[in-house]
Amino acid sequence: MPTPKNIKLFPGNANPALADEICRSLNLEPAHVRLERFPDGEIHCKVLDDARGSDAFIIQPTCPPVNDTIMELLILIDCLRRASAERITCIIPYFGYARQDRKDEGRVPITAKLIANMISAAGADRILTMDLHAAQIQGFFDIPVDHLYAAPVFEKHYQRLNIPDLTVLAADVGSSKRAGLVSKYLNAPLAIVDKRRYSPQETEAFHIIGSVEGRNVLIPDDMISTGGTIVTAVEAARRHGAKDIYVCATHPVLAGPAVERLNSLHVKEIAVTDTIPVGGKPLENLKVLSVAEMLAEAIRRIHVAESISQMFSREE
Ligand code: R5P
Repeated sequence: MPTPKNIKLFPGNANPALADEICRSLNLEPAHVRLERFPDGEIHCKVLDDARGSDAFIIQPTCPPVNDTIMELLILIDCLRRASAERITCIIPYFGYARQDRKDEGRVPITAKLIANMISAAGADRILTMDLHAAQIQGFFDIPVDHLYAAPVFEKHYQRLNIPDLTVLAADVGSSKRAGLVSKYLNAPLAIVDKRRYSPQETEAFHIIGSVEGRNVLIPDDMISTGGTIVTAVEAARRHGAKDIYVCATHPVLAGPAVERLNSLHVKEIAVTDTIPVGGKPLENLKVLSVAEMLAEAIRRIHVAESISQMFSREE
């Protein structure tokens, strides 16, 4: 990829490996940023390269430790604004706090909106993100948001695997739209788990709409947090006679008991992307697919004002 001029990439501490890959794809050295802690835990940031007049891209998924990565992002934005960057784009491949996106009971916050407000107030000019928990979160920002989909990366992977007798199983009704697209592109039938959630940790499956009997099954989701949703879906698929089970999710949040829960399932493969670092988490049959090239291409397009949606256009 030819190197665009006057573009500077500023990685935070959330996902250095992804930031390195993006820089490699763009043939760019990351800008030098010093991010340290004061003795009381406050974050101190100093950008060591000249940022004046630059088209600045901060790379920082707001993944766990979510409160720290968000704060670091805000401080980086403020730092670059005061360093006279011409434009500040935040690359947030995983957008934390996205699940609280509406007031569905009394006396609860809408944190997705709060975080969007904070990012805008800090001085961001635009956002690039991927597989938001709900696409309408884009509307929480009054600055442009480019929303990418990891689907083409997964699609290529499953086309290579060429799994016979495949059925795509949506883990719940909420994810049926996403799973429907996967089923369309893999040319596989769709089934849906009728799941009920009792608490953030507790879910139960009643029925499967459609059939998985004697089929290999792929369960796609936007994220795996505690793993509860996937456990419920895998168990339901097995009860209904599925053969091999594959799981894929864009964002491996892998919180709390997730690794232990997923390992107890012994599925054929769990494919995730590198929006969030999996680190040394000992997850069985894990396949990490990189979205770095896609993010790099989107950064290039934003810099030269080319269409992002064309990256996803298909010959029908
Ligand atoms: C649900 O709405 C989401 O798409 C995910 O299924 C959910 O957030 C995953 O969370 P957990 O792994 O804790 O069940």
